[in-house]
Amino acid sequence: MTSTNQAETPQALKSHRLDFLEAECQELKEQHLFQSLRVMSSAQGAKIQLDGKSVINLSSNNYLGLNTHPKLITAAKKAIDDYGVGTGSVRTIIGTMDIHQAFEKRLAQFKHTEATLVLQSGFTANNAAVTSILGEGDVVISDSLNHASIIDACRLLKKVPRYVYAHADMTELEARLKETQSARRRLVVTDGVFSMDGDIAPLPEIVALCEQYNAIVMVDDAHASGVFGKNGRGTVDHFNLHGRVDIQIGTLSKAIGALGGYVACTQAMRDIMINRARPFLFSTSAPPSVVMTCMAALDLLETDTALIDQLWYNTRYFKAGLKSIGYNVQSDSPIIPVIAGTSEKAHRLSERLFEEGVYVRSIVYPTVALDKARVRVILSATHTQTQLDQAIAAFEKVGKELDLIGP
Ligand SMILES: Cc1ncc(COP(=O)(O)O)c(C=O)c1O
Repeated sequence: MTSTNQAETPQALKSHRLDFLEAECQELKEQHLFQSLRVMSSAQGAKIQLDGKSVINLSSNNYLGLNTHPKLITAAKKAIDDYGVGTGSVRTIIGTMDIHQAFEKRLAQFKHTEATLVLQSGFTANNAAVTSILGEGDVVISDSLNHASIIDACRLLKKVPRYVYAHADMTELEARLKETQSARRRLVVTDGVFSMDGDIAPLPEIVALCEQYNAIVMVDDAHASGVFGKNGRGTVDHFNLHGRVDIQIGTLSKAIGALGGYVACTQAMRDIMINRARPFLFSTSAPPSVVMTCMAALDLLETDTALIDQLWYNTRYFKAGLKSIGYNVQSDSPIIPVIAGTSEKAHRLSERLFEEGVYVRSIVYPTVALDKARVRVILSATHTQTQLDQAIAAFEKVGKELDLIGP
């Protein structure tokens, strides 16, 4: 893999106090855990120019191809003309424009919630939500495979113990709810779609347990926004649980094609986050182009489901294709993990597929368990059937070579 090695920059000067990190990099390399960056010299799309090679892209979260949609590009350009390229401030000082307010209102209508608050990323949206509402005497109950941003948000709450239940295990969730009955408040938090395995959370069961034990429910719909539910409203809509999930996180950086995250919740929770959430208070607000790109994406989602329908068609087609050549793949979503086992084998699979003209990133420890290294396929509405067939053929050739499927 081509590395973006900047060490040879002619004018670079350095002390030697960070030299110990060279040994740490070497150690990661020996364990096959070292990641370097592949560099794209085209727009993000179904076919991309990567490290100088034209390849089919099966690794992006650009589920609907909105990042290059003409209507979104026009909206972004107009926002730059009208408002400039940046806001110059955090929201609470002078970084709230009328377009931020209008977008949040519109997003709340879309999500059928009282309010929404937009943050710089899905990562910071999780941070804002979890850290703003809990304090001493409360507990968090979290699925073992929840996203790193949820785990980190919980870690920031020094006085709030975190209880973990085995992935999607409702018996364990109930046990955690029983053992924390004396807490002042409980927050149960789950990914809506799990980012590494592509499975969907058992949200109806989680909601029923939280109602029974009076716990707050939060779902991180980073990978469900624009993908699941009517017009891409997410898992709450998919399971028809409107009004029964207290907090929904969404991203604007995956299916919506731009950048950012949001919390959909009550008006009071929005007000509290405006007053307490540190990423909101201490980091500059979304640039106008991003806000208006996202507004245009909502227009599109609300009026036309063709892209979402195509995404699901491609997902079914590709999954069936992999199964027909002998891969035992499981997933409920356009995220399809192909487990290789060791990190060395996952890297090899990814490398060989790249040589065959298909880019699928290997995912290794610590992102996934050491023995569950994989490549993670992500489908997009923009893949053509020919591209999907080519990718399946590459998976067949390389899978046989590496003994992942039978001869
Ligand atoms: C489940 C989940 N939550 C949150 C995030 C963070 O979203 P963003 O990339 O917008 O920061 C991700 C993305 O990696 C994710 O997979």
